[in-house]
Order: sequence, then C-alpha cells, then structure tokens
Amino acid sequence: MNRVVVGAQWGDEGKAKITDLLAQDADLIIRYQGGCNAGHTVVAHGKTFKFHLIPSGILYKGKTCLIGNGTVILPESFQAEIEGLKAENIDLSGLKVSPLAAITMPWHTEVDGYSESNAGKGKIGTTKKGIGPTYTDKMQRIGLRIEDLYSPETLSEKLDVILPIKNKQLKEVYNLNTYTKDEVLALCEKYAEIFRPYVCFDWQNLLRDAKRDGKKILFEGAQGVMLDVDFGTYPFVTSSNPVGGGAGIGSGYGPTVIDEVIGVAKAYCTRVGEGPFVSELTDDVGKSIQDIGHEFGVTTGRPRRCGWFDAVTMKYACLVGGLTSIALTKIDVFDTFDEIKVCTAYKDTRNGETYTSYPTDVYTHKYLEPVYETHKGWGEDITAVRKYEDLPENCRKYLERLEQILETPISIVSVGPDREQTIFKV
Ligand code: IMP
Repeated sequence: MNRVVVGAQWGDEGKAKITDLLAQDADLIIRYQGGCNAGHTVVAHGKTFKFHLIPSGILYKGKTCLIGNGTVILPESFQAEIEGLKAENIDLSGLKVSPLAAITMPWHTEVDGYSESNAGKGKIGTTKKGIGPTYTDKMQRIGLRIEDLYSPETLSEKLDVILPIKNKQLKEVYNLNTYTKDEVLALCEKYAEIFRPYVCFDWQNLLRDAKRDGKKILFEGAQGVMLDVDFGTYPFVTSSNPVGGGAGIGSGYGPTVIDEVIGVAKAYCTRVGEGPFVSELTDDVGKSIQDIGHEFGVTTGRPRRCGWFDAVTMKYACLVGGLTSIALTKIDVFDTFDEIKVCTAYKDTRNGETYTSYPTDVYTHKYLEPVYETHKGWGEDITAVRKYEDLPENCRKYLERLEQILETPISIVSVGPDREQTIFKV
C-alpha cells in the first residue's frame, strides 16, 4: 500500500503524528514539496525532535528517507537539522536528497524578507525562509539545483546567466546587496560539502527498485491543501503543491503508484500568516481552542488563528486534494466544550446567497459569514479511548455527521499526541 499524507486545511493539522505512525509500516518515505517553512515535532526515544525538511521516518531504523525533487532546500537549515540529529546519534545512512531539488540561495531569503516587510496590504505572512523566491526562480528557469554543485562547468555557465539577472533585480527592485561570481562559487563549494553524503545521484534506480520489489512508499506532504499555490486561498498561500497530486510530481513517481491519499484535518481549523479564514473565532472560544490545543507555530512561534471546523473548505480539500480518507486529529480538545460548531456553508452578506462549494475568489471572503450547525459536546475525557465504539455517543455522532457532509470516510481519529492515542476506524 503506497500512501500520501497531506494536510487538508492550512497546515499544522497534526500530520507529523500521522506520518510518524504510517512511517513505521513504510520502507521508503519521500517528502515531495515545500522546504524548511514546515515544522513538526516528534517525540521519540524520550526526546523531542523538531523537523523541518527531513522526514521524521529517519528516527526508525532501516527506512530510506528521500527529500524529493519537488522540495526547496536552504542549505544552512538542512545542515542544522542534520547536526541536531547527529548529536542525538540518529543513524542518517538512509537519508537521501534528490539532485533535482532546488537550492534556496541567500538572495531568496533576503528577497522574501524584503517583500514581507514592504508589502503593506499585500503581506502574505510568509515564514521568511525564501520559499516563494526559490520556486519563482525555479519556474523562471534561473534556479540552481543540488546537482549543479557537483558540476563546475554547469555551475559556472548557469551563474553567468543567473547572476546578471539577479543582481539587477536585487539592486534595482529591492535595493539589496549584489553578489559576485566568486562569492557565489565559494558558497556553492560550502553547500556541496553539506549535501555530499546525502545526494542520491542514483535516484532513478532507487525508485525503480522500490516499485519493482513492492516496497511500501509513504509520500509526506507539508503545509496543507488550503495553502496550495493552485487551489488554496491564493495569493495567501505557499508556493508549492501540497495536494495529493503534488506527490507524483515532487517525487519522480507520477500518480500511478499511489493507492491512498490520507488528508489530515484538525477537529477545528487554524491558520498562521495572513489570508481569509471565514470560520475564524476572535472571541474567548477561539482563545480556549488556542490554549487547550497549544496552537503556536513550530517554525516561527507565532500564535495560530483558531476557528470552528470549516466543512466548506474541507469538502473542497477532499476533492482537490484527492483524499480517499481523513485522519481527524485533536478532537480531544473539545472534551470540555458544551457545544461544538461546524461551518456547513457560507452566507454572502451582499445578496443573502449561501454557498456550500468553496468560493475561490478570496477577495470576496470579507463579505462571507459562516453558517453553523451546532453539535452537543460529550463532556468527558476521551484521551484514553482506543476503540471507535468506546467513544461517547455525541462524539461518534459528530464524526459521522462530518463523514456525511464530506462524503469521505474518517479512517483515523487522534485523541492525543502520543502514538497510542490513535483510533483506526476502518
Ligand atoms: P511561505 O511558505 O513561507 O512562503 O509562507 C506562505 C504562507 O504559508 C504563510 O501564510 C505561512 O504562514 C504559511 N505556511 C508555510 N508553511 C507552513 C506550515 O508548515 N504550517 C502552516 N502554515 C505554513
């Protein structure tokens, strides 16, 4: 069984725990998009590990973990992650990096920082890790890839094209420092050493063999469907494709090896950064969700905006994300709630119309109000429940109602952060 794990909301849905659980059963784990904008925490061997780019499956012995071609890699961040794992004596022999992955150069982080600080109303609230500018250059075909670091002739030829364009932009558009070719070559030499032990030049045979030998492949997505550059709340999105379809492109496999796409969603919604969020709660209820759910970012430490479960965006995520089932996390956050709401539609205050399909023009979202249905809480601690039938009746009713609205089964219910606090429903 080859599975993709995607975030089904705005990221931070608890993918780390679900990926970690499914990784136990996988032979090859491939991270297919994004970069060190992602952050997830895994508790293992009695220690807390914070991951940004390296698949957390590396904590299990004998797994191959590939950072795929669809990712963007900030060398210094990769190096810091590696050093952190080495300090804990984690075996990194299974770690591999695609030679086709894009490199985040210093000008990418500088431009990201500049753009965010000077964007005014157009601010995206990025993680300032250079993600957007790296993907921009990849698409403009003026990016560097890991493989370029090991081919002096290619690197030199590419830099002769890239640097005049970059320097002109840096100076004239952004008023930032420019780079000489010698400076960049020296940086690239340093980067080549950072990546050398991990670059998988033989990635084609790695993928071919895994497929032929029936190895179990887990595709690990970052961020979430609503941050997807095509389908998310554009332009308040990241610059890659977290949707299930991104797994084919970002790994080298194409779509035909994928059997299942599991969308991870919280029992409520959170979002960091700017952008519309129709079911956002700015009152005490939102604050309670934030406090009980510990909703603060791993990468930036920013408090996350919180709101009720949005079935409109989730129904959309089931479609565009290609979900075959849902892993619902953090439902225990509602243990003390008297009532729980689900946003089932949006009401347009301009004309009174209601929408159950997601309106993609986010500039109109300021006119939308959430339409809620209210469910009774269960008023008991469910963190020790391990079987679906042992969940309180109101909790099961809530879950079954979500499945009905979303027309997608819930396969996993998470009732706490530990691996054991997981209910496999189907
Ligand atoms: P970027 O990916 O740094 O360009 O940021 C673009 C948007 O995606 C911002 O709203 C970020 O807050 C959001 N974002 C990026 N990565 C994550 C993540 O891992 N979790 C949640 N939000 C993210």
